[in-house]
Formats: sequence, C-alpha cells, structure tokens
Amino acid sequence: MCGIVGTIGEKALRTYLIEGLRSLEYRGYDSAGTSFLSNGEVTTYRLPGRVSDLDQLVPTSIEANAGIGHTRWATHGEPNFSNAHPHQSNKGWFTLVHNGVINNFRFLKRKLEQKGMTFASDTDTEVIVNLMEFHYLQGLTPLRAIKKTIEKLEGSYALAILFKEEPNRIYFAKLHSPLVIGKGEKTHYLASDYLPMLAYAQTFYIVTDYQYGYIEAQHIIVKHLDKNEEIPIRFHTTDLTIEDIGLNGYPHYMLKEIEEAPEVIQRLSYNYFDGNQFLFDDVLLEKIHQADQLIFLACGTSYHAALVGRRYFEEIGKTCRVYVASEFAYYPEVKGQKPLFIVISQSGETADLIRCVQLIKQRGNALLTITNTKGSSLDRASDFSLLLYAGMEIAVASTKAYIAQVGLLAILRAALIHNNDVMTDLVGVIQAMKSVIDSRQDIETMAQAIMHAPSAFFLGRGLDYDVALEASLKLKEITYIHSEALPGGELKHGPIALIAKNVPVIAFISDPITAAAIRSNLEEVRARGANIFTISNLALAKDEDNFITPNVKVYLSPLVKVIVAQYLSYYAALHLQRDIDKPRNLAKSVTVE
Ligand code: AGP
Repeated sequence: MCGIVGTIGEKALRTYLIEGLRSLEYRGYDSAGTSFLSNGEVTTYRLPGRVSDLDQLVPTSIEANAGIGHTRWATHGEPNFSNAHPHQSNKGWFTLVHNGVINNFRFLKRKLEQKGMTFASDTDTEVIVNLMEFHYLQGLTPLRAIKKTIEKLEGSYALAILFKEEPNRIYFAKLHSPLVIGKGEKTHYLASDYLPMLAYAQTFYIVTDYQYGYIEAQHIIVKHLDKNEEIPIRFHTTDLTIEDIGLNGYPHYMLKEIEEAPEVIQRLSYNYFDGNQFLFDDVLLEKIHQADQLIFLACGTSYHAALVGRRYFEEIGKTCRVYVASEFAYYPEVKGQKPLFIVISQSGETADLIRCVQLIKQRGNALLTITNTKGSSLDRASDFSLLLYAGMEIAVASTKAYIAQVGLLAILRAALIHNNDVMTDLVGVIQAMKSVIDSRQDIETMAQAIMHAPSAFFLGRGLDYDVALEASLKLKEITYIHSEALPGGELKHGPIALIAKNVPVIAFISDPITAAAIRSNLEEVRARGANIFTISNLALAKDEDNFITPNVKVYLSPLVKVIVAQYLSYYAALHLQRDIDKPRNLAKSVTVE
C-alpha cells in the first residue's frame, strides 16, 4: 500500500513525479504529495485527495534537481493534510516519503518527544524523518544517520529521502516494502514498481531487504545494513511495456482485465506446456509427490483460488489444508513431517503472507510461491517459484489473476498425474470464456436487476461454492452492496432467516452431482419471496435460468463461472457510478498487516 517515486537529474521531473504517482495510484489513493529540492530549498505540495488534485496544486513551471512523491493508503491517521506525505523533520534537514508501517513508532516517538522534538501528524513516518535528523544533529553524516535510524525501525519501509544540503542525491532504504531503481540515460529513478519508470528507464534494479544507499544522476550506491562494503549491482530489463499498462480503449482496467481471461489461459498454456510435455521443474514435482501435506496460504481472491486448488490436489490423493494467511500467521498449525507450503499471491508483496513466509523459513519447511510478479518479495523468498504470466493487473479488484491462479493449479495437478488432457480442456475453456464475453449484455441486465438491493446472497455447492465466495467478495468490493456466499445446503441452518421479499439470491450451477440439490435450495428461498438468478451451463440448463455458459469440464468450471461473477459486479458498480478501479478504502497490494 502506498506508492513512492523519486528522481534525480530528470528534465521532466514534475511530469515523472505526477505521472508516476498516477500509475501507482492503484496502491493507495487517499492523499498525494511531492517535494522538490533545489539550491538547499525543499518545496512540498501535498493534500488529501487524488493525484489529479495534486496535479492542479503543483505549479507547472516548477524546476528542481531532485524530487520525491507519494500516494497514500492511510494506516496511521486519517487522510488529511498533515498526515499526507512527504514529511519533513523539525529543522527541515530531511524530507521523505514512506511506504510501510513502523510497529515501534510510539516508543520511538516518546523518546524523541523527550528530547524536545515535536510532531505535526499522526503518522509513523514522521518518527522516521525526525529520528534521522536527531542522529544527524549528533554529528553523523546523512548516510550514517539514515543507517542508524533504520537499524532502530521495526516493521516495513520503502523510503525515498531528500537531504536539504545535497540537491544531487536521493537516499533510499527498504525492508519488506517494494522498491525498484531505474537507470535512464543520465538519470536514476526510484519507484514502488516498474510502472512509473517504463517510459524513462531502460534497466532496473530491485532493492532487497535491509539495503539502503543513494542515487545520483550518474551514480548509485547500495549498501547492506550488516555489511560495510558497497554491494555490486546488476541491472536487468523488464518485459513490461507501456502498452501493457494502458487502458487500450477500455473505460476501466477491471473491464480490460476481465476480458483478458482467454489470453491469460493461452499464455499459461505455452509457458507450462510445450506441445508434448509439461514445463515444470522435476525437482518441484518430486517435492509435491513427496510432501505428506500441502498447505495453501493466501488472502482474498487468491485464497478463493487456493480453495479450488485444494480440491484439485485432494482429488489426486494429496492431503491439503488451506488457510487465510493472516490467521495462519498467528495460529500456525502444521501436521505431518514433510509439508510443502504453497503461497499464492498476485502481487507477491502481501504483508500477511510475508509474515507467514518468515515462519515457514524459521521452521525450515519447503516453500512454493505462485505469484504474478517476478522479483517480488514472495517470488524471491521461495524455494520454488511459479509465475502466473497474467500481465500487470491494475484494477484493485482482482480478476485475471484468479483465472491464472486456478488455471496454473489445474495444469500443475495434471503434470503430477501425467495427464495432458488438461491442455485440450483449457482450449474448451478459452472458447467458453469468449462466448461469455460475447454475451456480457445479458449479465449487465442481471446486474441492473440486483444493483439496488441492500444485500445479496450467492449460493453454490462444491466448486460453485468456491466461485460464490469470489463472486460475493467482488460484489462488496466494488459496489459496496453487502453480500454473503453460502454453500446451498447451509441456508436452512440459519441464514434463510435473512431471506425476505426481493432479496437477490444468485446461484451457480455447474456440477451434475449437486445441480438438483442446489435447485431445491433455490425453491426454499423462492417460497420466501427471494429474487432468484441462476447461472448454469448448457448440460444442466433449465428454461428459467438467467445465464447459461457453454459446457466445460466440471473441474475447470470456476474459470468460466467467475467471469460471469466479475461482469455482474462490474456492471452493477458501473450503473451505481462507483469508482470501479479504485474502490473506497482499498488498495491493490496489501503491504501492511
Ligand atoms: C481482490 O479483488 C482483492 N483486491 C484482494 O482480496 C486480493 O486478492 C488480496 O489482497 C490478496 O492479494 P495478493 O493476491 O496480491 O496477495
């Protein structure tokens, strides 16, 4: 959460900062700010609101040597002027932007207050900047003051720091929050991810935990907290292009990303199957075979994908468990001698998962990460890593990443049992997805029929229940309609008390084993006046069904049904005029616990 940028030596400094922040807005969007350093003067512009508001505030004529910027997702203190970044130290020596959370900030703040320092915000960040100044005023160089400060911080941070008297340098430091350095022709850039830098930098360096240092227009110094010497750095390129991150004519990223689903499956297919055989590391496959327990950890949408994955692996005889990461982090339960942890995350930066990974490492257990972000913290922390190749997902509501996660788990399962049929089955999925995309107007009609309800219920059994959970999350996330997902059979054990006239109940019907049972659950709610919507498939269709998807293999049905769910939420949000790509209170990558 929160996005940071910085650059030095860039002629189009203002443009880089503002446009860079715009591209990072998916990480947080309740406040924004920038600071410009020129001739020993730091000028800061910040406000609660969006980057577009900041763009109005910053003079177009501004020129400076160096600049930093921030887009915020509030953790400490409400989104208001004084909590917006950048923050400056008491005497103005240091100005910085921060992505992360400092757990021991109260303790440090008390100490600094005892020394006479004052605070103007509720943020943990202001403690960092004042601690730097405190150490600097004790006689340390700025770099040493920064080092001494970060040694005292507990929590997570990616920092871009201006020091008043060094207009040709931006300091940085990183722990558990992402930070990338970009190298341009006579410039360097800092950002929370590649996006702001794509139009400017040719090569990149991913800063790793406990590293700190500085960039200048032509130089870069990286050090490690525990080592004295400089770290030799190797820049790399990225496959991402500006086209990959554009809206390409779509009104919203979410819509674009929903409709990329067929491509996502296609890309997965050629990355993990060469036409004859699967392309997984044999050591990984052996590790899964040997594991006496597969433990899936994930959050939100990725957790819902993990639920489907569990069914895949249980079906081939593996013992599986699935945990919400934030629960497992505090109540770890590991049975068995040879567990393999499978951590699933679109961003690869989710703090709840990073905490779990620390635990897994302490236990010395094997770790497979499945992420969409090469070089992310989770990708790097793994013993085995599988990438999703879904392309950058920008809308806060995750759509194509779920497709890639479920698709990849299906291919991995097939590789374990040497069954190439999955590849043909996925071709069928691609066709079915395209047919759903072509019929999206029917889903829009359904969305208009439910969008004014205060509350909605999604029902399913088996895999359809897993889809119902994701459908419900999507609906609440972007429409703010309260919703619940229930296994069809559970209704009568309590929740049916909530069913009254016109309450929307949306059911997914994909499995012949449970089709009759779920239809009879629907009769129970119909008798109580519910407004029923059924999403079935050709093989199980009834005249009264609202949407019928083409048939695909039942185990792959979530890949098709979820698209209906995604459109349903999208269109409801569209007609409710919600901020679809940036829903309230949310941020794309949840880098705080
Ligand atoms: C999905 O729409 C959400 N924005 C959210 O639940 C997300 O899936 C969750 O925060 C996990 O993120 P990750 O996959 O990047 O770890």
